[in-house]
Amino acid sequence: MVQLSTLLTGAVGLATVVSAHPGHDVKAEAAERASALKSIRARGLSQCATQLKARGVEAESVARRDASLQKIRQARGLTGPLLKARDTTPLTTSHESNLTVDIDTDPSVLFASGGACVLAEDVTQGPYYVTGELIRKNLVEDQEGVPLYLDIQLVDSETCEPVPDVYLDFWHCNSTGVYSGVVASGNGDTSDETNLDATFLRGIQKTDTSGVAEFETLFPGHYTGRATHIHVLSHPADTTTNDNDTLSGLYTTTSSHVGQIFFDQDLISLVEASDVYNTNTQELTTNADDSILSQELADDIDPFVEYVLLGEDVTDGIFAWINVVIDSSQSTDVTPAAYLTEDGGVENPNSGMGGGGGPGGPGGEAPTGVPTGFPTGAPPS
Ligand SMILES: *[C@@H]1O[C@H](CO)[C@@H](O)[C@H](O)[C@H]1NC(C)=O
Ligand SMILES: *[C@@H]1O[C@H](CO)[C@@H](O)[C@H](O)[C@H]1NC(C)=O
Ligand SMILES: *[C@@H]1O[C@H](CO)[C@@H](O)[C@H](O)[C@H]1NC(C)=O
Repeated sequence: MVQLSTLLTGAVGLATVVSAHPGHDVKAEAAERASALKSIRARGLSQCATQLKARGVEAESVARRDASLQKIRQARGLTGPLLKARDTTPLTTSHESNLTVDIDTDPSVLFASGGACVLAEDVTQGPYYVTGELIRKNLVEDQEGVPLYLDIQLVDSETCEPVPDVYLDFWHCNSTGVYSGVVASGNGDTSDETNLDATFLRGIQKTDTSGVAEFETLFPGHYTGRATHIHVLSHPADTTTNDNDTLSGLYTTTSSHVGQIFFDQDLISLVEASDVYNTNTQELTTNADDSILSQELADDIDPFVEYVLLGEDVTDGIFAWINVVIDSSQSTDVTPAAYLTEDGGVENPNSGMGGGGGPGGPGGEAPTGVPTGFPTGAPPS
């Protein structure tokens, strides 16, 4: 049986330069995770799963995820019988999935929640967060890679109820391990200043009445020093929007949840062997070697998406789902690396990031084009 217990792993942006991900101290991030996990265990959130089941929320999720899966398969013309889902073997070891289901498999078996929902306490957002991104479901733009459809349900840690009407910010690197919107050493070609204006594989969706946001994107690639992951950040309930489908606010923003979601190593291997991904020359860090994930090996904690392949080949696409428990009473300041404007991307002079100058680069210098009086976020802690 697939297991739905979930933990989102937070990232922390710091000034220390580690490997090829400047502004990112993996050790400090891991330490934050360890202390967060302690309080999660203390709170016994596994009861949430039982409550969700009793309230019919799980049944709704099963029906919704099944409907989405069928719709996507139909739209993509995929009629083959084989789908493969992950199993519940330990998270950070490479393993073959052993749950093979076909199209007639009872959705309640495929999508059922076996375990607890677990939350990540608040931590900061990682070095490559960009505010001002577009509210949109499809994030692909002109990028190439394996289609990934993700169904994310937010659940409140106090009430165990779905959290509707919350904007969920979502970002990850492309199939060759580069983030849009940021020019920095370790993030692709630093001489390519146009990447500051790029918005691929970033976007925002509002959770519906069931607390659900769905994204259409690509499976992330990898970059040196970190296992394959996607960043997720929930915005406060009182967030307002602009006419151009963006959220209001500039460099200073708050969040009730920031974290990362992960993928089975099996799935990563399948994807990494496919076209485009296999041209990435950066070193692959496995889940087992990720210093943040290594802290999370507990039976009831699972920061990995559940998934099925949409067709017989991984390149047909992946449908994945995850429940994320957030503490909506929490509010944490987040400090973006840059801000998207109608004139393109603008670096946050106070983000603590090197502005393309490499490690020790001109992180604190005000870039040209920053409007006067532009609010700036607090320096990273
Ligand atoms: C699948 O793997 C899990 C965990 O290793 C194991 O408990 C289960 O029995 C396996 N199921 C089948 C059908 O082999
Ligand atoms: C990933 O993004 C970088 C920066 O825009 C780009 O140079 C690279 O070609 C992209 N990878 C693919 C496969 O398009
Ligand atoms: C969207 O509108 C806001 C408010 O007018 C503006 O500040 C921002 O630059 C615009 N963003 C984009 C991407 O056009």
